[in-house]
Amino acid sequence: MLSRPEILLQVAEIKALTPRVAAYRLVSPHGERLPAWNAGAHLNFRLPSGRTRCYSLCGDPANKAEYWVAVQREENGEGGSLEAADTFARGVVVRADPPRNGFPLGGEARHHVLIAGGIGITPIIAMIHHLRRTRASYFVHVCARSLKEVAFRDLIQAEAAVGRAALHLDGNDPARRPDLPALVGAPAEGTHVYACGPASLLKAFARATESWPQERVHVESFAPESRQTEGDQPLDVTIASTGKAIHVPVGTTLLAALKAAGHDIATSCRQGICGSCMVPYLDGEPDHRDQALSDDERREFLTVCCSRALTPSLTLDL
Ligand code: FES
Repeated sequence: MLSRPEILLQVAEIKALTPRVAAYRLVSPHGERLPAWNAGAHLNFRLPSGRTRCYSLCGDPANKAEYWVAVQREENGEGGSLEAADTFARGVVVRADPPRNGFPLGGEARHHVLIAGGIGITPIIAMIHHLRRTRASYFVHVCARSLKEVAFRDLIQAEAAVGRAALHLDGNDPARRPDLPALVGAPAEGTHVYACGPASLLKAFARATESWPQERVHVESFAPESRQTEGDQPLDVTIASTGKAIHVPVGTTLLAALKAAGHDIATSCRQGICGSCMVPYLDGEPDHRDQALSDDERREFLTVCCSRALTPSLTLDL
């Protein structure tokens, strides 16, 4: 079976970015180079309580000595962001999976239009570092309620000053939300568009890019969403170690069915981005709906938060 290596990272520096968001500089506790990554990648942290949480890397991918992540404290969330923010004290060593990228830049793009909403700015910041260094053509739209809530404000304002970014501040008034079709524009040859942010922004982005070739549209969200697809079939799962059979009806995720049957599967993003819910399978053909696993990993694992099966049954190596 493929192993799932983990890396140790020490919190070397903390910077407050907004009243709710802090950025953390992470280094190897032994002074080693860190695994390479590309803009758009994230880290999946294993928190002390057993929870896992995904945070996009928001530093410069060219810097092999450190990672940066930013955490927004969600007072009304499930507690993961509060635990992460409280755990990441200076000097503390934390565990994470190596970087994964479900939101990469389009390699052959001639121009990039990047749209960020709220804390969704984090992967966009790494993209800016990369695109700026490689002298690529790009423009960034940053949507937020107010200037004080814009993380990485100095960098965005510096980009705006040289004509590569615009800030859209709506004062939390739905009537002043940015006009996504105008930001995205017509599907010009060679242009790729990207969005990361809350569900409302991503919905508007999806509508604005309906006429675009979908291989030039790139999205990352942080909110769990239903992965039900038209044509889904019920599925019968067998647990290899016990022989137990679990029925997974249409509209229920494999994850939910496994949890209901007493299998505690670690999750983080619950939308196929982080890979933390990967489970080995022995029989059947998964319908992989994640953006997290490599082709090699897909031969042995599936992500149970979002994937189903192309066969009526699956045997899981649990
Ligand atoms: S929980 Fe992130 S891929 Fe399943």
